[in-house]
Amino acid sequence: MHKPNMREARNRHKQEVLYLDCDNSIKTDKFVGKKYFLKTYGCQMNVHDSEQIRAYLESFGLIETEVLEEANVIVLNTCAIRENAHDKVFGYLGRCKHLKKAKKDVIVALGGCMSQEENVVKLVEEKYPYVDIVFGTHNIHDLPRLLIENTGKQNIEVYSVEGNVYENTPYKRDSKITAWVNIMYGCDKFCTYCIVPYTRGKQRSRRSSEIIKEVKSLVEEGYQEVTLLGQNVNAYGKDLPDEMSFAKLLEQVSLTNIPRIRFVTSHPWDFTDEMIDVIAKYSNIMPYIHLPIQSGSNRILKLMGRRYTKEKYQELFNKIKSKIPNATITTDIIVGFPDETEEDFNETLDIVNYCKFDGAYTFIYSPREGTPAATMPDNTSLEEKENRLQRLNKLVNNYSLKSNQKYYHQTVKVLVTGVSEKDSSKVVGYSEEMKLVNIEAPLNTIGKIIDVYITDCKSFSLDGKIKEQ
Ligand code: SAH
Ligand code: SF4
Ligand code: F3S
Repeated sequence: MHKPNMREARNRHKQEVLYLDCDNSIKTDKFVGKKYFLKTYGCQMNVHDSEQIRAYLESFGLIETEVLEEANVIVLNTCAIRENAHDKVFGYLGRCKHLKKAKKDVIVALGGCMSQEENVVKLVEEKYPYVDIVFGTHNIHDLPRLLIENTGKQNIEVYSVEGNVYENTPYKRDSKITAWVNIMYGCDKFCTYCIVPYTRGKQRSRRSSEIIKEVKSLVEEGYQEVTLLGQNVNAYGKDLPDEMSFAKLLEQVSLTNIPRIRFVTSHPWDFTDEMIDVIAKYSNIMPYIHLPIQSGSNRILKLMGRRYTKEKYQELFNKIKSKIPNATITTDIIVGFPDETEEDFNETLDIVNYCKFDGAYTFIYSPREGTPAATMPDNTSLEEKENRLQRLNKLVNNYSLKSNQKYYHQTVKVLVTGVSEKDSSKVVGYSEEMKLVNIEAPLNTIGKIIDVYITDCKSFSLDGKIKEQ
């Protein structure tokens, strides 16, 4: 039994990182024809991790079901970023308890970021004995072995010391058109409110040669788009002595001739001029940048440990807009950080008015046990925080709508990814600027990049029709 230790995750020096190959030879016929239920919470990194989990489960002959009650293997890939993410998982665990009573032949496995939290693991040990397996973000590759070895006795295998980077990872990708590609794991920034550096460990970059190899094989398979993934992609390579910068990596990925490249997430701190130049230069690097600001108050930014000021952010924002005029810029904002005053909050509204973001994800601050901000005094009531969130959302949505209205009666290039969920007679996809577009176009456009004439603009999507050549 290995349990997580958050203090250890923060205080220790970085381990030497070993670059190893995944052992994909583990086989069993114990599960052939049985069903699995996989639920994924959280960010793109978890979505991509679930593609790895799915590959393992299906290599055992398990078949996916959307119905929890039908499953023989249940895997919850969890997120720890805010408290409400936890609540949803505990709700599911409640349902698993009933299921285990009715049906003996069920294995419940808990993975993802919650498994890396000491307090969660303690709770699972004490109150959820029917959770069979707890595995963490550093040892997803252990899941096949843990399933085979399962005896019905709770087994916790979670590592706080991350160490290794695994290559040769199997993925069962959700899409045949767009693909996620990890370029790094973990985060070294330790923003005071954030649990990610504890749940994902310190930053470990993959080697560029491996990343390029993966992108090239995706190109051969016919993929149209890759999204390079990392908590702070701009810091790519900084943890390796001889590795290239993120700007150089972007350039190399561009040269593979994959039609579209995206990347998330950019931290303002490591954003270089070289990066802006590379994005501006190559037409297959999409003009879309997610650049979380978190707050418009320098006092709060300092307490958050974000390492930039409002002025620095504005400078960077203007530089991007001047060199890449068609770039869309979206952001993340937290309201109600400990002791945020009305004045601080107004500064956040001011920066939103200044930048007129094309979109923003907004959150009420949620204290995470073990992070520095969780012990900071906070005298603002939840009611006040909710009120601020509403006021912020109103402003943000207004700018999202304005941003979308710019495309009215314009032609945009859309990579069509599937049938529209809202209207099955239409197809759906994203423009280069990351605008969601519902399109009147035939089904055979799926997987292609087409010109779309925009006929209507809403706050969160555009409507259009295929432009005849
Ligand atoms: N690496 C990215 C963010 C990853 S987490 C970055 O640094 O920009 C995604 C978003 O969740 C963050 O940008 C932040 O806005 C929000 N978030 C993180 N911790 C939070 C917390 N404790 N409470 C509320 N929101 C939080
Ligand atoms: Fe969290 Fe900050 Fe790292 Fe983003 S940069 S993952 S907010 S610690
Ligand atoms: Fe959540 Fe972990 Fe991502 S905490 S946001 S799933 S890195």
